[in-house]
Amino acid sequence: MIVAANFKMHKTRKEVKKYLEELKNIKFNGVKVAIFPPQSALFEDKIIGAQNAYPAINGAYTGEIGLEQLNEFNIKRILIGHSERRHILGETQEFIAKKFEFFKNEGFEIFYCIGEPLEIREKGIEAVIEYLKGQIEGIDLGYEKLIVAYEPVWAIGTGVSAKIEQIKKTHAEIRKFTSKPLLYGGSVKLNNIEEILSIENVDGVLVGSASLDVNVFKEMIEKAAECKISK
Ligand code: PGA
Repeated sequence: MIVAANFKMHKTRKEVKKYLEELKNIKFNGVKVAIFPPQSALFEDKIIGAQNAYPAINGAYTGEIGLEQLNEFNIKRILIGHSERRHILGETQEFIAKKFEFFKNEGFEIFYCIGEPLEIREKGIEAVIEYLKGQIEGIDLGYEKLIVAYEPVWAIGTGVSAKIEQIKKTHAEIRKFTSKPLLYGGSVKLNNIEEILSIENVDGVLVGSASLDVNVFKEMIEKAAECKISK
């Protein structure tokens, strides 16, 4: 079971440090935990991954960080393809695939995100799968250090997660393309995590807003550990 936290543009370096200290007060009991803090709060810690980086060692890419900056903290984990980078920052599939290739060649563990907007979901599951296929174009789905996160855009940060049946169906379809761990993300909260983790083909969760409170996130890890035992 994998439980990952995406802090997005929240928390300072000092706050992340304190968060990690508190988080480590509990045993993870076999749950794999990953934390993606903002770039200014990267630490040398196995639990930490980068929310983003440019696919180059260094160079003239204003506002970006690259491999050299990640290496400083021994970061070996990265989030690629998150919907906010696709839709707000305008990353194209071509660029995302290039980024994937670069960090794959560097041996990073890649949390690769896919997910459809509401207008596609409203057209039905076939349209959703077609859309998701476009988001795996150029991506090596057999990469050994790949973790796929299905995050419907309409469920991210809205407080309305996808319905159990929708997650079940979509994950079953994605499973046809990859045998790698599949996470669900999009308004995962304390009150729905157990139900979500009990769905077939759900190997973990990627949590945004609810992960910001360390006590909530700790409880989520504990619940995941229990699900692992009963699954
Ligand atoms: P959310 O974000 O939990 O706030 O919906 C999830 C994500 O974007 O990874």
